[in-house]
Amino acid sequence: MLLIDGRVLAKITEEILMSNHRRKIAVIGAGNVGATCAFVLAQMKIADIVLLDIYEGFAKGKALDMSQNGQVLNYDGTITGTSDYNDIAGASVVVVTSGFPRQPGMTREDLIAKNAGIVKQVGEGIREHAPDSTIVMVTNPLDLMTYHMQKVTGFPAHRVCGQAGVLDSARMTHFVAQAVGCSEEDVQAMVLGGHGDTMVPLPRFTTVGGIAITHLLDEETIDAICKRTASGGGEIVKLLERGSAFYAPGSAAAIMAEAILNDRKRLIPASAHLTGQYGLDDVYIGVPVILGASGIERILELELTTNELESLQGSGNFYKSQLKELLGY
Ligand code: LAC
Repeated sequence: MLLIDGRVLAKITEEILMSNHRRKIAVIGAGNVGATCAFVLAQMKIADIVLLDIYEGFAKGKALDMSQNGQVLNYDGTITGTSDYNDIAGASVVVVTSGFPRQPGMTREDLIAKNAGIVKQVGEGIREHAPDSTIVMVTNPLDLMTYHMQKVTGFPAHRVCGQAGVLDSARMTHFVAQAVGCSEEDVQAMVLGGHGDTMVPLPRFTTVGGIAITHLLDEETIDAICKRTASGGGEIVKLLERGSAFYAPGSAAAIMAEAILNDRKRLIPASAHLTGQYGLDDVYIGVPVILGASGIERILELELTTNELESLQGSGNFYKSQLKELLGY
């Protein structure tokens, strides 16, 4: 008979338990964007999900509702609702959606006073309970709140990024597919800059089956697509009359969380901390990045035309002035 020493057995058991240890993603804010993000992540079957909200019952109720969908949608990871930051311990990725959404007539920047305080509280909770996580910000005004979160947590800047480019590019993709009359699958759009009126859709870097849309659509159509993309969120706020978009924003955040968790090295636009790239320094703004296990692993510097670069710098400088005026950085 083979006899195993108790300590060896304990070690083996621990290793088996560790290898079965599921990864964890925390989603802060159980509102429409947070819940959609959690729902999309659950269907990816990549991690256990913790949905945290200051309203405990709200988070628990949504988590239970999603959990009861496990058999129907064939996922079996746990989805836990909570208002206790202890529960986010061990999360590799934290998606932050907490904050007030826009109402008709508001710009994203109008939200700053309310949301800056919320982001501070959330950031302190993450710093204490998930100090090794990578943060994906979704709270508006996105680029300013991402900067604020990096300052509050003191995390290295590559571990704090903002979701905007995936959403804005997806909106542009949709309009391009409609205009060309082709499948969305073949469209790759690139939208840089801040997540607001100054965003910078780049038709030269937007392709259908590898062909730049400048070869497929006339200037007037492209212009209309760029304008509609830049006001894409506002168009939905107006239609809803109460609150803002959530299916596409929540899904876009889930895509970023998955890229980080699975070290996918996705090349996507995201709000990243610039240190001289594109002539901009110490500001968060949407640029093409490689997103992987270390968060923002690389920022790509495209060769832009004078007009494109001026638009991007205009957007960056706008947010730099807002950081100073509204947040005192
Ligand atoms: C939007 C919000 C979420 O663009 O910023 O729809």
